[in-house]
Amino acid sequence: MIYLDYVSTTPLNKEVKNMYQSLLNDYFANADSLYSLGLQTSSLMEKSRSLTAQMLGVKPTEIIFTSGASESNNAAIKGCAFQYQNRGKHLITSAIEHSSVHNTFIQLRDVFGFDVDFISVNEQGMLDLQELEDKIREDTILVSIMYVNNEIGIINPIHKIREIVSQKNKKTKLHVDMVQALGKIPVDLSLVDLASFSAHKIYGLKGSGVLYKNESTSLVPLISAGQQEYGIRGGTSNTATHTMFAKTLRLALENQNQKYQYVQSLNHYVRKVLMTLDDVVMNTPEMNSSPYILNFSCIGYKPEVILHALEAQECYVSTKSTCSSHKNDVSRTLAAMHLPDAVARSAIRMSFSDLTTQNEVEEFLFHLKTILKTIKKQR
Ligand SMILES: Cc1ncc(COP(=O)(O)O)c(C=O)c1O
Repeated sequence: MIYLDYVSTTPLNKEVKNMYQSLLNDYFANADSLYSLGLQTSSLMEKSRSLTAQMLGVKPTEIIFTSGASESNNAAIKGCAFQYQNRGKHLITSAIEHSSVHNTFIQLRDVFGFDVDFISVNEQGMLDLQELEDKIREDTILVSIMYVNNEIGIINPIHKIREIVSQKNKKTKLHVDMVQALGKIPVDLSLVDLASFSAHKIYGLKGSGVLYKNESTSLVPLISAGQQEYGIRGGTSNTATHTMFAKTLRLALENQNQKYQYVQSLNHYVRKVLMTLDDVVMNTPEMNSSPYILNFSCIGYKPEVILHALEAQECYVSTKSTCSSHKNDVSRTLAAMHLPDAVARSAIRMSFSDLTTQNEVEEFLFHLKTILKTIKKQR
């Protein structure tokens, strides 16, 4: 099998799996119980919180365990919007966010009456920083912009975005979806008020995530219940899962630079070969993008046909964000980039890992070339 869809999810690290299984067996007690079994479970989870905070350069009280980045995004954006709505009802995001951010803003606009601006991107997927600056107002309470886009891999300049937001309105909170950055490029949480992370993108458990919330930001909780997670996310703690987050993160951060260099060399090689093929165009720009993601179009071909022809060779790629893969329309990101229709409709996303080998990419390229020669183009 040649798996080239690591942006969608990653295989579970064996060390994580083994430790998780033993935690499930040995530490089942409720972390809020007052007897020693509960205290032991709780202390493992709090150790994970402290270590996670340490690795991210923040305080343990600023780490909230969640069920994944979709929940972290919802908790941050809705929680912030509800908390600060007396200050203003204006929110800003970008046109190329993950569905868990995009649809949250749509809901805040359509159901809760907030005023939302979606900042546009250019043909390379780069955010229009001037438009962002122009749109921030006195009543703007939140800006949410992703770090690394999950479809084309563009990297947004978070440093610059922070500068713009702070200069225009000191009270505006900044949330950043850092899912596709963690374990791949450095993340600096001192620049943001809120950030979202997911474990299953870094060889951890599905249903496991973190929300970073700095001390000076308050949120209205989405799950009102007990004292868990500082009252921001009630309900009996999923202790074994939360305990595994720190180990997952430590393993992901190990040799981050070396892994980056290796993946970058694979990416350059694949890009070079793809560019020699007729009808293939690159959608991921070479500059300001993550080497872990490569999006290209095979003009005139149906991407689903290519995907399934590759699948027949046990090669796995995707056509667009997995969360929107069952919809028939073109990807929201590629549409926002105003790419020609023929390009936007024929996009394929491959994504690499440090586990990807040179042999695998060679085999993938061989199969793709064969498929492009044998399948029919769309009329
Ligand atoms: C950029 C981005 N944000 C959020 C998510 C949602 O993460 P999760 O699957 O943990 O809910 C994903 C995953 O597809 C993603 O790529």
